[in-house]
Amino acid sequence: MNGHPLLEAREVTVRFGGLVAVDAVSAAFAPGELVGIIGPNGAGKTTFFNALSGVQVPTSGELFALGDRLTGAPAHRYARHGIARTFQTPRVFGELSVAANIDFGLQFAGRGRQASWLLKDEASILELIGLAAQATLPAAAVTPSQQRLLEIGMALATRPKLLLLDEVAAGLTESEVETMAQLIRRLRDELDLTVIWIEHAVTTLLRHVERVLVLHQGRKIADGAPSEVIRNPEVIEAYLGDEMAEPGQSAGPAAGRLPGEAGRPASLPVDEAA
Ligand SMILES: Nc1ncnc2c1ncn2[C@@H]1O[C@H](COP(=O)(O)OP(=O)(O)OP(=O)(O)O)[C@@H](O)[C@H]1O
Ligand SMILES: [Mg+2]
Repeated sequence: MNGHPLLEAREVTVRFGGLVAVDAVSAAFAPGELVGIIGPNGAGKTTFFNALSGVQVPTSGELFALGDRLTGAPAHRYARHGIARTFQTPRVFGELSVAANIDFGLQFAGRGRQASWLLKDEASILELIGLAAQATLPAAAVTPSQQRLLEIGMALATRPKLLLLDEVAAGLTESEVETMAQLIRRLRDELDLTVIWIEHAVTTLLRHVERVLVLHQGRKIADGAPSEVIRNPEVIEAYLGDEMAEPGQSAGPAAGRLPGEAGRPASLPVDEAA
């Protein structure tokens, strides 16, 4: 450590034509933090991740990893800084076995490890993500929640320092979401990872993170401890405003989880209510 944040975004803006998907967002992430990012559909969460992982070059603003300027660098330089991520739509190789998908991640890390060391790693990763029993199955044959775990395993195989998780609990049952949250905690606690976790299951997320960023219409409207953020009037307004604007049309997993009582705007979305 050299005193710099592990990753820092300064006034990062991403425009798509006239649309400002991410609007001058600044945030710094310290080693070992477990940070959540929440916000209504279309708030810019995934686009912000794309900028943080080098997938999307910001229109303006700067990105630094341990003080090293990364803005505009190719995605592999972000990877070399230990930044790994999952995608909102899982990207696994369906025809390859679960184990071979992990191997792909190990090879991507490309640090000239010996075969025996490599195998040991594969087994320990499968164990950690709870997919040891599925190792030989084609990735396409395991359940969607197992595919999400596999994608986390692939990211872990690159031996990251910072893990960006984009809705890894989407579409999971309530108990699977809780299991996923426990796994994410273990990754941080046992592997010393820094984790930034986007999720619409807000109640679960807020129970597990120490800090949460709220994005709304591309802007960061809150950044702090969950207990403070849930009392922030702008945060409450952002969620309820969305609910009232699109009462019938579910914009995604979050919409059905928003509180229905427009007259009682005192709470955040409760995912257990879904
Ligand atoms: N490649 C793109 N080209 C044009 N517009 C885009 C592109 N990617 C995202 N957008 C737009 O940018 C805005 C932010 O999208 P983004 O996917 O970052 O939101 P999100 O917070 O991740 O939403 P969700 O919760 O639904 O995943 C949306 O209006 C979206 O339509
Ligand atoms: Mg998204």
